[in-house]
Amino acid sequence: MRTGTLTAAIISAVFLAASVPHSDSQAQPPAPAPASDTATGDDTAAGQSPHVDPQNVMGVFRGDCKKCHPSEVAAWMKTTHYQSSDLRLLSFKGNTQKYAEALKISREDLLGDSLCADCHGTKSVVNGEVKVVSGVSCESCHGASGGEGGWLSRHQSYHDSQPLPRNQETPEHRAARIADCEAAGMIRAPDIFNQAQMCFRCHVVSNGDLIAAGHKMSSAAFEYVAWSEGEVRHNFLLDRTQNAKAPSLWQEMTNGSTENRRRIKFVAGTLAQLEAMLRARAEMKNPVVIPQIGGGIAALNGKLAQLNATAPTAEVGAITGIIGPMLATLFAPLPDDKAKYNKAADDVARHARHFVASHDGSKLAPLDTMINLAPPHFSQQFRQKYLRE
Ligand code: HEC
Ligand code: HEC
Ligand code: HEC
Ligand code: HEC
Repeated sequence: MRTGTLTAAIISAVFLAASVPHSDSQAQPPAPAPASDTATGDDTAAGQSPHVDPQNVMGVFRGDCKKCHPSEVAAWMKTTHYQSSDLRLLSFKGNTQKYAEALKISREDLLGDSLCADCHGTKSVVNGEVKVVSGVSCESCHGASGGEGGWLSRHQSYHDSQPLPRNQETPEHRAARIADCEAAGMIRAPDIFNQAQMCFRCHVVSNGDLIAAGHKMSSAAFEYVAWSEGEVRHNFLLDRTQNAKAPSLWQEMTNGSTENRRRIKFVAGTLAQLEAMLRARAEMKNPVVIPQIGGGIAALNGKLAQLNATAPTAEVGAITGIIGPMLATLFAPLPDDKAKYNKAADDVARHARHFVASHDGSKLAPLDTMINLAPPHFSQQFRQKYLRE
């Protein structure tokens, strides 16, 4: 591995900090995440934070995820997510410099509490200051784990490294532990829509100035099934040596099938992407950027129409019914944009949750041809380094 990288520096800094007993100068253990800060909160609630709250983020190294999840951490360390803080925040040149200067973000701020670090890294409070502690990491997708009161402390009591191994936990305790973790904001494998929502908080950009400076508005080719099955996949829970096609714990607990799960992910991922684009459209005032977002929404609506023609469901039908009439005004700023598009986003999220709760995928087999159009996605860096033919 490269030396002298941000991540290496931070790992040692965090290990040092973690090994010192709590003193006055030490940051307090992060408080538990308030329910409204998590993706499991009610989407219609105002003021929902778009990213995990650094106050409640432990970070992979301080959270010691590796102790019990060594294969997941190893897989993550090969991803673009892991590298993103080194690539985009550490070196102040090229497009990083261009975008940062356009937004008046200094070189030092980039690695602190910056807009860029919301998406290109993991922010955590270290010694009272918000710092980037790694690239995009576990808690960016599974929710801030929140120290003593958060989900991590409740999560890790049953493991082979603990006095009580995982297979000796009673079903009652397990159910209560999982319910506690979810209440504390943990995003788990069964929460397919919430999980997809996490991706689009970063993969759809809603800051008009950033887009005007030349930053991409979204990862254009992002398709949730394909993008979660490539370099990002890390389903090692039951067998550390086997990166399973579907989360192994979910499979064990529900007896669910990989094919059915992919179908639900395909629909829920498209809906989460649409929701995020509608929220970006609600915020957007820049008349140059609005047509880009409008085009994205129209394209997604087209995909949903195709999806619904292939395997009709009440939920997807209802959503195309909401978006269709909006197409005429998508491309020009209007005074009621904010209320209108946020309301549409709320409706999409509501139908999407209903969809995930009421379908198991077994009746959606016709979608497989659409799903298989996009192969598992690996970044160029990943392919060059790990998949060289
Ligand atoms: C002491 C061991 C331990 C530590 C430390 C630990 N975990 Fe886990 N984790 C487990 C066990 C055991 C399970 C399986 C739980 C079960 O069987 O219900 C698990 C399951 C998970 C799951 C899957 C949950 C689901 O139901 O889909 C996620 C996600 C997860 N851990 C994330 C993390 C993250 C992120 C960290 C670090 C911040 C972490 N874990 C630290 C032991 C641990
Ligand atoms: C809302 C999330 C988000 C924010 C905020 C954000 N980025 Fe990005 N950025 C992304 C994503 C996602 C990609 C990858 C897009 C793709 O799939 O190609 C990216 C790609 C990049 C790239 C590589 C592509 C290019 O345009 O050269 C650079 C450089 C970059 N971002 C710098 C920055 C800087 C600097 C800031 C802050 C001024 C910033 N980003 C803010 C999400 C974000
Ligand atoms: C980019 C988002 C993202 C990041 C980063 C991430 N995860 Fe996950 N994780 C997911 C998704 C999505 C799933 C479910 C995968 C699926 O649907 O196939 C998952 C599944 C899991 C599971 C269940 C695996 C199984 O076999 O049941 C565990 C455990 C887990 N993650 C732990 C971690 C740990 C530990 C880290 C950090 C080293 C991490 N995750 C980083 C998104 C992420
Ligand atoms: C905290 C923000 C964040 C979250 C959450 C997030 N991503 Fe990303 N992701 C990024 C950024 C930023 C990049 C671009 C990294 C770079 O080039 O600097 C990226 C890159 C990727 C790439 C590599 C793309 C390429 O071709 O370079 C994949 C694949 C990916 N993300 C999938 C996912 C999936 C699937 C999820 C949800 C389960 C997810 N991401 C959640 C920020 C995020």
